[in-house]
Amino acid sequence: MDRIVITGGARLNGEIAISGAKNSAIKLMAASLLTDQPLRLTNMPRLADTRFLGMLLRRLGVEVTEIEGEDGPETILHAPEVTSSFAPYDLVRQMRASFNVLGPLLARTGQAKVSLPGGCSIGARPVDLHLMAMEALGAHIDLHEGYVYAQAPRGLKGAEITFPIASVGATEHTMLAAVLAKGTTVIHNAAREPELEDLEQCLNAMGGKIEGAGTSTIVITGVSRLSGTTHAVIPDRIETGAYAVAAAMAGGEVRLTRTRADFIQALLDKIEAAGAEVIIMNDGVTIKRNGARLNAVDIETDTYPGLATDLQAPFMALMTTANGESVIRETIFENRFMHVPELARLGADITVQGGEARVRGVERLEGAQVMATDLRASVSLVIAGLAAQGETTVNRVYHLDRGFERLEEKLGACGAQIVRVSGPGGADED
Ligand code: EPZ
Repeated sequence: MDRIVITGGARLNGEIAISGAKNSAIKLMAASLLTDQPLRLTNMPRLADTRFLGMLLRRLGVEVTEIEGEDGPETILHAPEVTSSFAPYDLVRQMRASFNVLGPLLARTGQAKVSLPGGCSIGARPVDLHLMAMEALGAHIDLHEGYVYAQAPRGLKGAEITFPIASVGATEHTMLAAVLAKGTTVIHNAAREPELEDLEQCLNAMGGKIEGAGTSTIVITGVSRLSGTTHAVIPDRIETGAYAVAAAMAGGEVRLTRTRADFIQALLDKIEAAGAEVIIMNDGVTIKRNGARLNAVDIETDTYPGLATDLQAPFMALMTTANGESVIRETIFENRFMHVPELARLGADITVQGGEARVRGVERLEGAQVMATDLRASVSLVIAGLAAQGETTVNRVYHLDRGFERLEEKLGACGAQIVRVSGPGGADED
């Protein structure tokens, strides 16, 4: 299995073009199930997760074609007919967001059999809110042997849905189903992440009638059919944030382009408070640090526009060498500190109690072998490795490949000493 080897200490200077957002792309791809016409997605990231969802969609009858367009990678998804409404365990287990095909399958064919995703390394991550929403829309739901059997033979009906938690996935899933329901659906306490607005824009371009995405109340007036469209995936805010942190960690000057600084304002405020320079540009943001030691700052993760939980591990890596003690509170997932023992292998001084980690900045980290436990944890280890003395080897790179496109190429172009080593060796085995 591949691993990434970093020789720390090099400053980063240059430009990184940010890719399309993974977490938007995979929901937009699921929208292709809602129409018999082609959906063309531009600014598509080429990642393990998008490839993976492509495999599942093909099994359901979607023709998935990847092309290199004028402005980068595109994916054309076309489902003239949905040939299967069955999403098996082996596919859903590997990527939880596959569960979101349930709503579109129900809306298009009136039935679906989709595996429950199971737990995950960052927390229990139940799907009760997804199922609550489908039931509210009139679906009959049964759970047997790890599968959700959902039926709505006479179609879905609009409903008033109030989520107890602002869940990104459940809000998106409800939109993907209610867009073809009869009548109006109102989602209260909807998630407000930018990916919701992206989904709204795409579904509306397909003929949907949705208003309010990006606020906590979304109103969906159901339509009887949707058509195809061309839609550009928004920039990946988590990739943007991770490279912003990487630049602050390594020092130097890095321009992050083809992205939106406002998507990560909460993070940029913290990077600035720590002592790095943040320059907002029309098409992104520049992060500059002259080498002076950063100051410790506290963070707390939150729903958008607060600081994203997906940026908690990268920010913790940044704080490992800051001056003073930083308190990091994780409020979204119950088990999202799996990177702590790995950062400790590099010499970080961190203690965890409940949802709170205390990071006491050390003078310097030292390279070591480390192991990624999830996608965002793995990038935090790369970030730490950029500043660690000597060589850091990040094993289980498949986590990284799920969400970071050509990471070693992008960082390498800015001067990072980073290579991917293929083949056996390292500490990949579970
Ligand atoms: C999305 O997950 C992202 N994944 C996550 O990114 C991200 O960390 C998360 O949103 C929060 O921003 C994708 O978009 C594919 P939630 P999602 O539903 O939708 C609880 C990455 O690395 N909850 O907003 O699953 C849940 O357990 C991934 O790219 C229920 O209790 O997140 C959590 O505590 C990791 N019941 C909270 O809500 C439910 O039915 C928020 O989760 C659903 C969620």
